[in-house]
Amino acid sequence: MTCRAIVVFVLVAASGCGGSDRAVAPDVEVVVGSSWRAVSEEELAPAQHAQLDRALAARDQLAATLMGELKSELEVGGPSGAVAVCRDMAPMIAEHVADDHGLAIGRTSHRLRNPDNLAPAWAESAVDDLADATRYFSGPAGELGVLLPIKLGAPCLACHGPAESMDEGVRTALAQSYPDDRATDFAEGDLRGWFWVEVPGEG
Ligand code: HEC
Repeated sequence: MTCRAIVVFVLVAASGCGGSDRAVAPDVEVVVGSSWRAVSEEELAPAQHAQLDRALAARDQLAATLMGELKSELEVGGPSGAVAVCRDMAPMIAEHVADDHGLAIGRTSHRLRNPDNLAPAWAESAVDDLADATRYFSGPAGELGVLLPIKLGAPCLACHGPAESMDEGVRTALAQSYPDDRATDFAEGDLRGWFWVEVPGEG
């Protein structure tokens, strides 16, 4: 036996503001380790299709809430004001969605802005592959992991586009909050990152 067989149990308590985008309902135990395996869409069993429906509903809610929040903040405070809102609100919104749906959800990227947004272990290889289609993973306790690509749209350029074309205030706000920011210089249509969702198994 090698250490590949070791399974690490991480119990992530719902934390307050300012945590990572990795939001977990308080009663969900997240298991990471090497006993996850990639599965194709065709291989999904009926119970996994039900888990997938839950994952998609949670992803849709997270995406819509983040977009709504972003849009209203851009109108009120412009892009530099909206940076602080993304920073503080995005992790909290993800926690609410996780709670509502009884699962774990977050956003990640191969070029992170927020270092707390690291992918869960089961998704790491697909992130390294720059998976540009949805990927599915089955977990050791019947979990379904789903990784869903996010493409960059025009409104995202204000904060993820070429640094030199960004508003001065945005650049300053980003430099203050994210000294290791790797999430600029994207172009419209680029793969920006992924939503990941982990749906617990039955019982
Ligand atoms: C007002 C500035 C702003 C705009 C506009 C914006 N973002 Fe972000 N984005 C941020 C900030 C700040 C973070 C880090 C917040 C966090 O912890 O999630 C972030 C994080 C992310 C992440 C999480 C991964 C990481 O690198 O930490 C993804 C994915 C992402 N943004 C995609 C998008 C997409 C897609 C759009 C367009 C629909 C967009 N963003 C528009 C500021 C912005």
